[in-house]
Amino acid sequence: MGFVKRFGSVALLATCATMVSAQTTKNTDDSAPVNATGPYYGPWQVNATIDPKITPNGPLYTGNYVAPTTAKYDYAEVIHKSYLFYHSQRSGKLPYQRLAWRGDSCFKCTGSYGEDLSGGYYEAANTMKWGLPLGFIITQLAFNLWAFPDAYVAINEWNEGLEAVKWGTDYLINAHPQDYIFVGQLGTSAVGTTDVDFGYFGPPEEYEMWVPLGIMHTALYVTPQEPSSEITGESAAAMAAASVLFKDTNPAYAATLLNHSRVLYNFAKTYPGTYNNNTKFALAKEWYPSSQFQDEIAWAAAWLYIATNEKAYLNDSITYYNNQSTQDSWNEYSWDSKGAGLHVLLYHITKDPVYATNAKTYFTQWLPGIGSNQTIRQTPRGLGYYENWGSLSYAANAVFLMLRHAKDLGYTDSYAKTLVNFAIQQINYILGDCGRSWVVGFGENSPLRPYHKSSYNSYIDYPMRGQNQSLVGDDFLNSFTLNRFILYGALEGGPAMDDSYFDDRTNYVYTEVTQDYNAAFTGALAGLVDYYGSKNFQPFSDCGLDLGWGHKNASKPPTWPDDDCYHTCNKNCSTSKKASSMPTGVEASGPGATSTPTSAATSLTQGLTLLSVSMITIALSLLL
Ligand SMILES: *[C@@H]1O[C@H](CO)[C@@H](O)[C@H](O)[C@H]1NC(C)=O
Ligand SMILES: *[C@@H]1O[C@H](CO)[C@@H](O)[C@H](O)[C@H]1NC(C)=O
Ligand SMILES: *[C@@H]1O[C@H](CO)[C@@H](O)[C@H](O)[C@H]1NC(C)=O
Ligand SMILES: *[C@@H]1O[C@H](CO)[C@@H](O)[C@H](O)[C@H]1NC(C)=O
Ligand SMILES: *[C@@H]1O[C@H](CO)[C@@H](O)[C@H](O)[C@H]1NC(C)=O
Ligand SMILES: *[C@@H]1O[C@H](CO)[C@@H](O)[C@H](O)[C@H]1NC(C)=O
Ligand SMILES: *[C@@H]1O[C@H](CO)[C@@H](O)[C@H](O)[C@H]1NC(C)=O
Ligand SMILES: *[C@@H]1O[C@H](CO)[C@@H](O)[C@H](O)[C@H]1NC(C)=O
Ligand SMILES: *[C@@H]1O[C@H](CO)[C@@H](O)[C@H](O)[C@H]1NC(C)=O
Ligand SMILES: *[C@@H]1O[C@H](CO)[C@@H](O)[C@H](O)[C@H]1NC(C)=O
Repeated sequence: MGFVKRFGSVALLATCATMVSAQTTKNTDDSAPVNATGPYYGPWQVNATIDPKITPNGPLYTGNYVAPTTAKYDYAEVIHKSYLFYHSQRSGKLPYQRLAWRGDSCFKCTGSYGEDLSGGYYEAANTMKWGLPLGFIITQLAFNLWAFPDAYVAINEWNEGLEAVKWGTDYLINAHPQDYIFVGQLGTSAVGTTDVDFGYFGPPEEYEMWVPLGIMHTALYVTPQEPSSEITGESAAAMAAASVLFKDTNPAYAATLLNHSRVLYNFAKTYPGTYNNNTKFALAKEWYPSSQFQDEIAWAAAWLYIATNEKAYLNDSITYYNNQSTQDSWNEYSWDSKGAGLHVLLYHITKDPVYATNAKTYFTQWLPGIGSNQTIRQTPRGLGYYENWGSLSYAANAVFLMLRHAKDLGYTDSYAKTLVNFAIQQINYILGDCGRSWVVGFGENSPLRPYHKSSYNSYIDYPMRGQNQSLVGDDFLNSFTLNRFILYGALEGGPAMDDSYFDDRTNYVYTEVTQDYNAAFTGALAGLVDYYGSKNFQPFSDCGLDLGWGHKNASKPPTWPDDDCYHTCNKNCSTSKKASSMPTGVEASGPGATSTPTSAATSLTQGLTLLSVSMITIALSLLL
């Protein structure tokens, strides 16, 4: 369990051999990151005058944590910023620019069936779309809203949350051109020993111009001959969960999602198989190896039951749940493993105590205390530490489930109190209790150099534009230059086992960011808003945030309507009018228009800079 997969993501196949060996040696190493006087990788790192190692000064954990009775951090603010992070990851033609430093991208992203694959979310620092983690983050973003709807509505993040889900499900719909054909991967991470996507360190907006080997975003398909029940199952789960959210406000879209979900689910069941077994998906196996697929089938069936109330789906879910081929997913909740999520969901649906018992077995691994059977270590300052790669996300994933389960048990239940207490400890550690924040642009000492390419090299500020990508990569990895734009809301990988940390891009095991890190984290924050009482939180807005509009190369910011209190400093919105909205002049259209104006907007009226327009023209003329 665990130790074969260190892949919160994938950034590592860097351009030089030393990085590859760094990866091999780091894989099983939970020790502190290498320091600047030690054996650093990369030409600029051996510099004894710079030691970015940080040992946070938060109090040591004594083994007895008592959660504050009132919220210590503004969880509503973190949710708002977390959704901003999803904007930074958007691929395709943007209906409006939320961030001055991100624009349209994925210009050559049409699949073999003529389908438009430009939408959805990029993975981590890169521009890959890997089917399993992408499907999971969409399911989880929907799960969050489903789990704590009142909290999201009260802090005015509900519509933003729907928009984030829909940006994903619109892509999944397009990725499903025929019943038993589904896009399992978009993009090429490497060809032989040459990094393609991973070796590209510029902005997504200019990918087609500068990517190594000139290889465009190619689609790899899941088919009956080359099946992947984990990708089709997870995508079916995402669409079913999303259909529940859209059922009332956008029934046509919900119905479309449900149809795709049913077909994909049948695909997963009829052609059981894992992408690990397909040479076509060899790189997916390398970076995101799947441990099994039975859990994704059970997961899809559970969400389909919630969406349809059809008993056969519940029956299926339980059948597959009881037939998982390994115990892995009982110990983990992540992009790969859904077992723990199933304990909580099936308990919610059936109230059968067997699922509560199984949930308890999963939670027990994490919980400290007298007579505890905790197996997962805690750092000196109290973080539950599953593994060094993405430690914070494993803790956040676990506590999201704890909070949702606690809500089912009732917050006054004594076991629920234990779960909530631990959840608060973990989330507060992340937000500052250890002596620093691990969320970019939030709190004290938040990270300045996340391993994230477009906030460093943006299409509006890319000093090394046109240079060989191996040089651009060396600069990205090895320079201590801060990321030029604030990647608000991104949850970093986290600390070493001793709580220490290096705020630099070379230590990507710790400083990498991905959508899957943020996914359940966002929901856990909503769980805390729900627990403490949403009346104790104010909606947060973009007021005062630096979204890059002051940059001299930025285009004009969107103009928001008078009654917008989400993107502006306006405070005069009535509660019923708190929704996030489209900028003035941007037409909302497509299936989502009635509830959440978003992805299908046809006009891009908020400008790209003249510069980028001309560069895109150059790019296209180079390509065509
Ligand atoms: C840094 O690394 C060197 C060499 O491995 C080691 O001797 C030194 O103790 C380390 N310093 C810190 C502060 O960890
Ligand atoms: C080492 O750090 C110093 C101080 O910031 C800087 O002037 C120098 O250029 C650095 N050396 C290298 C090789 O990066
Ligand atoms: C969904 O599928 C049903 C049955 O095949 C069909 O009647 C219906 O039109 C479909 N709805 C949408 C929105 O695609
Ligand atoms: C995957 O391949 C292995 C080895 O060839 C085989 O034992 C296994 O049954 C296959 N699994 C699936 C689900 O196809
Ligand atoms: C439930 O599943 C069992 C076997 O797993 C099957 O025999 C039974 O017919 C199913 N019931 C329904 C209602 O689908
Ligand atoms: C249950 O698992 C066994 C062994 O992995 C497999 O042969 C069987 O087909 C599975 N049954 C279902 C319904 O998935
Ligand atoms: C730890 O496990 C033992 C043996 O199964 C059990 O008796 C005990 O209640 C468990 N402790 C907790 C806190 O769950
Ligand atoms: C944009 O701004 C940066 C810094 O202000 C500048 O160095 C750069 O040349 C400008 N132009 C482009 C095309 O990035
Ligand atoms: C870029 O640099 C690498 C490594 O130095 C070299 O192998 C490659 O040929 C260069 N590419 C171009 C287009 O110059
Ligand atoms: C709300 O206030 C802003 C300025 O603070 C103003 O421009 C806007 O017209 C007001 N909107 C409404 C609906 O009153």
